[in-house]
Amino acid sequence: MTQPERHDAVAEWADDLAGPADAMSPPTVDAEPEPARADADAVGAPTPDETPTTLLPASADAAGDEGPPVPHDAPVTAVLPAPDAGAPFWRNAVTRSLAVVGTVRDRMPHPARDSTPTEVIDTRRDLAALEARDISAWFGDHLVLDRVSLTMPAGAVTALIGPSGCGKSTFLRILNRMHELVPSASLAGEVLLDGEDIYRADRPLTDARKSIGMVFQKPNPFPAMSIYDNVVAGLRLTGASVARDRKDELVETSLRRAGLWNEVKDRLRAPGGGLSGGQQQRLCIARSLAVMPRVLLMDEPCSALDPTSTRVIEETMLELVSDVTIVIVTHNMQQAQRVSTQCAFFLASQGKPGAIVEYGDTDAMFSEPIDARTFDYVNGRFG
Ligand SMILES: Nc1ncnc2c1ncn2[C@@H]1O[C@H](COP(=O)(O)OP(=O)(O)OP(=O)(O)O)[C@@H](O)[C@H]1O
Ligand SMILES: [Mg+2]
Repeated sequence: MTQPERHDAVAEWADDLAGPADAMSPPTVDAEPEPARADADAVGAPTPDETPTTLLPASADAAGDEGPPVPHDAPVTAVLPAPDAGAPFWRNAVTRSLAVVGTVRDRMPHPARDSTPTEVIDTRRDLAALEARDISAWFGDHLVLDRVSLTMPAGAVTALIGPSGCGKSTFLRILNRMHELVPSASLAGEVLLDGEDIYRADRPLTDARKSIGMVFQKPNPFPAMSIYDNVVAGLRLTGASVARDRKDELVETSLRRAGLWNEVKDRLRAPGGGLSGGQQQRLCIARSLAVMPRVLLMDEPCSALDPTSTRVIEETMLELVSDVTIVIVTHNMQQAQRVSTQCAFFLASQGKPGAIVEYGDTDAMFSEPIDARTFDYVNGRFG
């Protein structure tokens, strides 16, 4: 069997990070991200034919008493106070240190300098289709997915089902370029977002992960950060920002779309960690939605939740799918039937790499599957 050509993913990623377009991106993201790192991935961003997230130059917002913006890469020169000969040595040291800290702090990204107004509230945008072509994935030399092709139609929920270890999460992470952040990982194939390969060499790495948001199995809000700030955190980490007078609107819109607004509108300044598990998961969905992803990937988003929270998330998904294409991994066959219109059954049989056994209309796959293995799986006979 011929092996498909592999991207040197890590090298490409390193090049990407070195590029100016990624100057704001976080240094690393791994398969089970920390909150801050996950946040940078669960975000959305405009595609070239849309209204860009950042509309005005920084100086437009810097008008005020902040003075002109200082380039962040300019050398830092602190004016040190002359030592006081009569003071103990430690006091002089502290005074001079504070002067340096003050100078550096002034050079740090400042809200007034960096908050470039944005048109982010209009949630209507063209629905995006996602198409995976001949995707293969490796961890080291271990081939875990073998030439998987799948079309995830615009404005639909596509469910990925299959037994543990068959490569569903790996496939999902390939859809927004997170797989390549695992040090030993590599891949081959194409992922087309509206016909454009997100792995195209001249396309910045972060483009894909901005347009294609991700929600993880375990809710991962910043626990000490307020609910309000959790929602806008994704924007900040991707270098996008919003005018202060539109921030409230963005937070409300995102929380409403995530089905959380009514439960938190009176405590937006309370810590995100104080919410229930189901509310935290919806907060993470709101954080993803704040940057207007065109596709939302969800990896077992309800597996840690009670039935009521699960139902609320499912309702949220059904509301969202009118303007965001959704791909969900689930082990819950009822959930797959409730929320998805398309379904793909993955299987890695007897030490072989994962592949799609059957794909199609969800109702048909559950009522009249073509492959006997699909029949057995959807009827709970294995996995
Ligand atoms: N970081 C990693 N390093 C090495 N191997 C990995 C890594 N992550 C996953 N794998 C392997 O890749 C294969 C597919 O794993 P993946 O997590 O994609 O499966 P899955 O279908 O999502 O399983 P589950 O339903 O249990 O979440 C498995 O054999 C797994 O052991
Ligand atoms: Mg998984």
